[in-house]
Amino acid sequence: MKTFGFIRFLLLVASATFMVQCTSDPIPGPPGADGIDGIDGIDGMDGVDGTTSCINCHSNAYREPILLAYSESAHANLRSFGASATCARCHNDQGFQDYLSNLYIDSLGFATANPDGYDVPDPISCTTCHDMHRSFNFEEDGNDKAVRSITPVDLFLDPDITIDIRNASDELGLSNLCVNCHQPRNQYDIPGPTADFEITSSRFGPHHGPQSTMLEGIFGANISGALDYPGRGSAGHRQGSSCIACHMGPTTNGSDGGHTWEPTTNTCLNCHTGGPPSEVDGFEADFDRLRDLLIAAGSIAPDSSAVLGVFPANVAQATWNWRMLMEDKSMGVHNPNYAKALLKNSIEALEN
Ligand code: HEC
Ligand code: HEC
Ligand code: HEC
Ligand code: HEC
Ligand code: HEC
Ligand code: HEC
Repeated sequence: MKTFGFIRFLLLVASATFMVQCTSDPIPGPPGADGIDGIDGIDGMDGVDGTTSCINCHSNAYREPILLAYSESAHANLRSFGASATCARCHNDQGFQDYLSNLYIDSLGFATANPDGYDVPDPISCTTCHDMHRSFNFEEDGNDKAVRSITPVDLFLDPDITIDIRNASDELGLSNLCVNCHQPRNQYDIPGPTADFEITSSRFGPHHGPQSTMLEGIFGANISGALDYPGRGSAGHRQGSSCIACHMGPTTNGSDGGHTWEPTTNTCLNCHTGGPPSEVDGFEADFDRLRDLLIAAGSIAPDSSAVLGVFPANVAQATWNWRMLMEDKSMGVHNPNYAKALLKNSIEALEN
């Protein structure tokens, strides 16, 4: 008798309208006879729990902690850099949407945000990352959480390289969303192994957010030395894990995972069953050692910025590597073996 309730609802709405329109008439007439029962509705499909699955996510109660986590995260930071299209494509809500739309192309041939910039400082928010479900058949197609883009990403630094973070930990490739912004920008060349190299900016290196390229194991200045560089995409964390698995996994106590984007130990425990290692073996000592060597070579200032000037190839390469590991901000965790090889081989090249 599914439609019975619906018809009563319609009658209620009709009578409510009636009462609103007739407030000038204070005497209501006698109630009419009950309507005829409606026809039974069609049975639901087996195995699909209809709207309850929707309401699980689409309720205010469910969203409250998400909003709270988001508001305390770095993504809610008000630095939205709206005036410049170059910055807005990663730092501004509308800017990122316009960048993904492919409506504007910059002089280098890359999709960008509106070249006129944006008047509204619009930080990264729900609508930056979310749009609409691609399919409502979650059982067969998976739930894409209405993430705005899952398309593999051609990198700014080399558009011939495409990153597609899709594996068992992220079957639909939701982490590809992150790669759009968490990749270095195409400002500087990676120094080669032989020629002297001129550093022309204090921000020299894969500037801001080389997390995706670090995870992938690319864009270091691979100085040769005692340690082999792991092949592209071969890191354990790249093969069995993903941005969303580590940073948005199930929370331990509300302060990590989900929309805090803080890595959650619950995910680490899937593989490191005794608890994750406290650091990438030797990272801190080698990172500090390389920094001291570069300060001595004159290419890194005490405040960690790069020093302008012409440097021998090995110094320029080692500077690039140190700044890359610094900008990655994971203390080598994104790709432990790549981080170790970059550090050890850079130190070796400077000490010999
Ligand atoms: C796992 C969580 C989840 C489930 C389950 C889910 N959604 Fe969504 N849906 C989202 C997210 C996240 C968004 C992005 C927009 C937002 O958060 O408001 C979204 C967006 C939408 C939108 C477009 C934006 C809006 O809010 O108007 C519609 C429509 C929608 N969902 C309908 C549904 C329906 C219908 C179902 C059930 C068949 C469903 N969703 C199940 C997470 C979910
Ligand atoms: C390709 C995307 C992208 C573009 C383009 C971009 N940024 Fe960023 N920016 C990021 C990401 C990602 C981070 C956060 C990186 C991190 O925390 O490791 C960031 C961080 C920053 C920070 C904070 C740095 C810190 O260490 O706290 C500043 C300031 C900043 N960007 C300024 C700018 C300006 C100004 C522009 C335009 C000239 C710009 N960005 C263009 C992606 C981008
Ligand atoms: C930086 C990008 C980003 C922003 C900003 C963001 N989300 Fe999400 N959201 C995601 C991704 C990616 C997932 C899928 C995570 C997963 O599958 O583990 C997700 C999942 C969800 C889900 C369903 C899964 C869950 O966590 O239960 C909901 C609901 C949701 N987001 C709502 C929101 C709301 C509301 C906001 C704004 C307060 C927001 N999101 C902001 C990227 C984002
Ligand atoms: C629209 C571009 C954009 C997208 C998409 C995006 N981020 Fe970010 N993210 C940023 C920027 C910009 C910052 C730095 C904010 C600031 O400090 O002003 C940031 C900060 C962060 C931080 C904190 C860094 C810090 O210094 O504290 C983490 C962790 C992070 N993002 C992870 C992710 C993950 C995981 C995803 C994918 C689900 C993602 N981001 C998607 C642009 C983006
Ligand atoms: C194996 C788990 C793992 C994977 C996979 C992973 N991360 Fe991380 N990430 C970490 C850990 C652990 C840190 C260090 C956090 C800290 O020390 O605060 C970190 C640090 C970061 C930071 C700097 C955060 C800060 O507070 O300074 C950003 C930004 C970030 N990751 C983004 C990403 C993006 C984007 C991806 C996918 C391309 C990714 N991560 C993949 C575990 C992971
Ligand atoms: C999919 C399985 C998997 C997950 C999930 C995972 N790890 Fe790992 N981790 C590995 C593997 C495999 C290695 C060895 C290095 C390699 O193969 O690239 C490793 C190495 C490490 C190392 C380097 C240890 C050393 O001796 O130098 C650290 C640190 C680490 N993981 C931390 C973490 C943290 C923190 C998390 C959670 C945020 C995490 N891992 C999640 C599989 C995983």
